[in-house]
Amino acid sequence: MGRSGLKVSRVCLGTMNFGPSDHVTGCDEAEATRIVHAFLDRGHTFIDTADVYTGGRSEEIVGRAVKGRRDDVVLATKAFMPHGTGPNQRGLSRLHLTRALEASLRRLGTDHVDLYQCHGWDDTTPFEETVTTLDGFVRSGKVRYLGLSNFTAAQIVEAQWAAQRAGATPFVSLQPQYSLVARGIEAEILPVCARHGLGAAVWSPLGGGVLTGRYGREAAPAAESRIGRLLGSSLPAARSVADGLLNDRTLDIAAEVVKAAAELGVTPTAVALAWVRDRPGVTSVIIGPRTLDQLHGNLEGFALTLPARQADRLEEISRMEKGAPDNGTTNTRAA
Ligand SMILES: NC(=O)c1ccc[n+]([C@@H]2O[C@H](COP(=O)([O-])OP(=O)(O)OC[C@H]3O[C@@H](n4cnc5c(N)ncnc54)[C@H](OP(=O)(O)O)[C@@H]3O)[C@@H](O)[C@H]2O)c1
Repeated sequence: MGRSGLKVSRVCLGTMNFGPSDHVTGCDEAEATRIVHAFLDRGHTFIDTADVYTGGRSEEIVGRAVKGRRDDVVLATKAFMPHGTGPNQRGLSRLHLTRALEASLRRLGTDHVDLYQCHGWDDTTPFEETVTTLDGFVRSGKVRYLGLSNFTAAQIVEAQWAAQRAGATPFVSLQPQYSLVARGIEAEILPVCARHGLGAAVWSPLGGGVLTGRYGREAAPAAESRIGRLLGSSLPAARSVADGLLNDRTLDIAAEVVKAAAELGVTPTAVALAWVRDRPGVTSVIIGPRTLDQLHGNLEGFALTLPARQADRLEEISRMEKGAPDNGTTNTRAA
């Protein structure tokens, strides 16, 4: 991973779906455990969670599922997102990060995290405070490697330089969004990662499910699908997340993925995953299966190599215009 000795599998198991949740479709612990075991049984090692996923239940489920196999796993989690309404229950301060790490270790049932990631940029905390705190975690043995998520190119440089100035442990990874419908990281973020020694483990490779070809213009999204659930939610933000995932542009790209899949005799899921896996600068692709069947469908995608004819057409239809600095969370055309 990046400029480090850490080895991770090319496919990473994302666990945001583990445990029921109010606005995103989830899977119960029994199915989540089957997913983890099937993933490890196939020889993959890298598992990603976060303290906020399903209110901490994702970490608890992952912790129980890897019991007895802990040393087979590169276990990644994250901190930064709010854990309450208090000003010290979020962000990258020494106070919050120290409490967040202890809580994650408790939920995961382990004495160390292999990759500890800042889940977003905190402009209320001097980054020197963050890097020295994180360095203390590494020195104490509670964390092995450090990563970032959803940082802009400038923030990545600032973070890495702050660590260097303080003589602290450097960051070895970035976790940004990347797929055929969200290519904003190509302009600045991936080149900066390469220059500053960070590998990239990329999230939402199927655009939240749109690139599986299961959504269309004619029929409304199925109520139990992620987008159907978002559209049915009473949370105002959920609607705009759904609009970002499902719109004319993402449906046009999905249609091209479906066409390429039909030509090759494979699933659209396989085409979308093969595309992102082979992009320059991608170290690992974080899949987000909700069922065991979806996991198998995702892993099959990793066996495919896209022929140039289909890859070129996908490249053309999904190209993004250069625009404003991106932190890898947007999936619309840069303005
Ligand atoms: N750092 C961050 O800020 C951040 C943000 C988001 C995610 N992540 C990480 O990245 C992981 C993956 O993200 P993601 O869940 O958005 O990935 P994704 O692969 O783009 O979307 C996963 C969704 O696609 C659908 N799907 C997956 N496989 C399928 C298949 N074989 N057939 C049909 N539908 C399928 C499912 O939708 P339904 O549920 O509707 O069936 C599933 O919930 C997360 O678990 C998390 O670890 C990180």
